[in-house]
Amino acid sequence: MRLSIIGTGYVGLVSGVCFAELGHQVLCVDTVKEKVESINAGEPPIFEEGLEEMLQRHLSRGTFRATTDYEEVPGTDITFLCVGTPSLEDGSLDLRYVRRATEDLGKALRGKGGRHTVVVKSTVPPNTTRDVVGPLLAKASGKGLDEIGLAMNPEFLKEGVAVRDFLSPDRVVIGAMDDRTFAEVASLYEGLETKVLRTDPSTAEMIKMASNAFLAARISLVNELGNLCKALGLDFRKVAEGVGMDPRIGPLFLRAGCGFGGSCFPKDVRSVRALARSLGVRTDMLDATLSVNEGQPRRMVELLERRMEVYGSTIAVLGLAFKPGTDDIREASSLTVVSELLRKGAKVRAYDPQAMPAFRKAFPQVTYCSSAKECLKGADAALILTEWNEFADPTLYGSMLVIDGRGVTKTNNYEGICW
Ligand SMILES: NC(=O)c1ccc[n+]([C@@H]2O[C@H](COP(=O)([O-])OP(=O)(O)OC[C@H]3O[C@@H](n4cnc5c(N)ncnc54)[C@H](O)[C@@H]3O)[C@@H](O)[C@H]2O)c1
Repeated sequence: MRLSIIGTGYVGLVSGVCFAELGHQVLCVDTVKEKVESINAGEPPIFEEGLEEMLQRHLSRGTFRATTDYEEVPGTDITFLCVGTPSLEDGSLDLRYVRRATEDLGKALRGKGGRHTVVVKSTVPPNTTRDVVGPLLAKASGKGLDEIGLAMNPEFLKEGVAVRDFLSPDRVVIGAMDDRTFAEVASLYEGLETKVLRTDPSTAEMIKMASNAFLAARISLVNELGNLCKALGLDFRKVAEGVGMDPRIGPLFLRAGCGFGGSCFPKDVRSVRALARSLGVRTDMLDATLSVNEGQPRRMVELLERRMEVYGSTIAVLGLAFKPGTDDIREASSLTVVSELLRKGAKVRAYDPQAMPAFRKAFPQVTYCSSAKECLKGADAALILTEWNEFADPTLYGSMLVIDGRGVTKTNNYEGICW
């Protein structure tokens, strides 16, 4: 199939390159010229393990290419919308990029005879594909809804292991308006050993939102129980081991820590909450999920303050990305921790193997270091905020106070956030 992907961020670029890997001919479209140039030069603007090598392979085979020109889209059969859906002030999702991309796509499809299929992959609130994307597309393209295949295919990849997740998904959910569109979208994933769930578009949209709300709530519950365990002098990691042996609970996603971040969990929970409130539905669980999460990064600084005077001290911050394996710092715990440290008069040294360029833009006053070892030089204490493997080595720290927010190391002067 000939596919076009609108938006070349973490989801669009990974999906595009992986669809090429599955044997399709892929055209990626982005409005940012520098991103398109960098992609066509074989340099992904984002870091994901395995992505660069796969991108270069498909560029040289001619099975993948990027452009800023929507006019090339009619030459493809199916278009995926993968643009961002950030939060608005009230927590609901900002659909302006979805609307803009849909209109530009519709205009480009005006001259195309026959049918074209459009699949929403961006995370959007229930009913967006049916009530926003479909009508906008029909209006901008001048096509009847019978000439447009419309579907919603949420993306479940995890940053850090995105390529692996895309090529070995737990499930593929396809919310299609009709049988033909379902068959077309399902055929794109042929060759992957996975379960395919067919729904209507609004149910597919809700599955994505509900999955993220569920996972985020689980993390906040784990973190709250972890905080309690620490107050009791217990190690939550052992407690989690025992809890996770119950098959109704399972062992995954039971790690307590300094909070979840990234471009999905916080914004998607806020958006489900805003949606529920707009419909008069109570949101006690979602409220608690967010408030526990806001407290966890601050807890890192509180633990530090219990052990030393922060004002005038030099603190080494290890890990800035919201999780290992990515350069993404959106809503990362490090943003809260570093602003708190600076506000309290500490000097901050920081190191992250991937996320320093993005972080430097937000915090130019921090001293950025080329390794964990260099970062720890001259510091009075260290805070570990991302579980990069390289922070596990206990010999890095000597007798320095280490507050570990992710459970990666143990030294002789160490404190864990929940153990
Ligand atoms: N990042 C994740 O791990 C993840 C996982 C699953 C789902 N999602 C969802 O997927 C969507 C995209 O997320 P992301 O992290 O890839 O976002 P991103 O911000 O990394 O990328 C969005 C891209 O869209 C481009 N864009 C914006 N408007 C455009 C337009 N009109 N035409 C063409 N390109 C345009 C931007 O330049 C950018 O490159 C969001 O809805 C997100 O919630 C993200």
